[in-house]
Amino acid sequence: MDLNENVERVMISREQIEERVKALAAQLDKLYEGRTPVVVCILKGSVMFFADLIREMKTPMQIDFMAVSSYGKNSISSGKLQVKKDLTVNICGKDVLIVEDIIDSGNTLYNLKKLLNSRFPSSVNIVTLLDKPERREVPMEPEYTCFVIEDEFVVGYGMDYAEEYRNLPYIGVLKRSVYEK
Ligand code: IMP
Ligand code: MG
Repeated sequence: MDLNENVERVMISREQIEERVKALAAQLDKLYEGRTPVVVCILKGSVMFFADLIREMKTPMQIDFMAVSSYGKNSISSGKLQVKKDLTVNICGKDVLIVEDIIDSGNTLYNLKKLLNSRFPSSVNIVTLLDKPERREVPMEPEYTCFVIEDEFVVGYGMDYAEEYRNLPYIGVLKRSVYEK
């Protein structure tokens, strides 16, 4: 069975992603000129975006990884962030660049930014591959965005449905039959 068979349509192609990532890397190189940021990959969804983005950047950097999940506004534990894997680098006095796959309600990054800011970094910026602004529940504006998309559930290029489809090289919309089966 081929993964691609469950994809209704390609929303953003491999080539489109590559072009946008290159442009963004150049912008980030300018922003961090003369500095050595800690670039943080938010697992697992941003793994491909992160790997491509940092390879296009010429800025000296440290990299680190974090795995988090957040409870939405309607949950009892509103505003709570569960840290499944924390940073190993000390970010005190450092410029931090968070690399995220997609901003939906905004809860994850809102809480994560608060947590990282409590560790006294010099700065915290967010770069996201995708943004669904229509879905926002909390004020959260990423400094850099690759693509703003409509309110549709997407998979591929790191993003999953039930932990699958992350290895698709493009961003796609799943067939309804996948959700309904
Ligand atoms: P937020 O806290 O609602 O902004 O959650 C963002 C997280 O939800 C992302 O990091 C993804 O893991 C997940 N997510 C939101 N929308 C999608 C989607 O369309 N496809 C796959 N994952 C998504
Ligand atoms: Mg994620």
